[in-house]
Amino acid sequence: MFISGLLTISFVSLSLAQPQLHPNSLRSREDGPVAVFADPSSTKSVMPTYTPPPPPPKTRRLGHAIVNNNCDFPVYLWSVGTNVQPVQNLNPDDSYDEIFREDPNTGGIAIKISTDVDGLYTSAPQMVFAYNLSYFKRRGDNGEKVWYDLSDVFGDPFQGYPISLTPAEPAIHWQTGVPPSGSQVRVIASWTNLTLSLC
Ligand SMILES: *[C@@H]1O[C@H](CO)[C@@H](O)[C@H](O)[C@H]1NC(C)=O
Ligand SMILES: *[C@@H]1O[C@H](CO)[C@@H](O)[C@H](O)[C@H]1NC(C)=O
Repeated sequence: MFISGLLTISFVSLSLAQPQLHPNSLRSREDGPVAVFADPSSTKSVMPTYTPPPPPPKTRRLGHAIVNNNCDFPVYLWSVGTNVQPVQNLNPDDSYDEIFREDPNTGGIAIKISTDVDGLYTSAPQMVFAYNLSYFKRRGDNGEKVWYDLSDVFGDPFQGYPISLTPAEPAIHWQTGVPPSGSQVRVIASWTNLTLSLC
């Protein structure tokens, strides 16, 4: 037939050009430019086993902001960037967890906590666990960092109860739930989990 004659002719010319090429390679060539090389010791063609590696994964590892309610009363939490996320009711022993996120407008996130169900909207005493992500270049310590800070506004909702935010250097540990004077801003590698423990 004309087709097989053509194939034979092209095989012959291919053989002349590339004596290593196996006849089976002609079938593969119809599927596209996949090179199939003959195993000289066998009549079977050896399919290439190499597959290109997938693109490298994005290696950005981000930690979590975690709030543990160890109090024996419920607390109410709002994660606030440009928008206020729905209130989270944390009963005793409940936890809140979010992966560090960025806000295109505010830059940072404020996790606001009240013991009052409408506390965010009634200016009740609130604890504010604020953070942002940013690159921080320092000799021997490059990479993405999370800056974080713990403060109270409109009063101290956890007065009388211990509060801690870990890890932190220097430590953030409010023995009686009242912030000390001075800056509470800390910075650490952004893959670190930060845990705020209430009571
Ligand atoms: C993050 O917070 C730190 C400390 O408040 C501040 O110096 C820095 O500019 C902030 N970075 C961004 C990207 O908002
Ligand atoms: C960070 O917290 C998340 C969620 O609780 C957890 O799955 C992960 O293992 C923690 N990472 C580290 C390094 O502790």
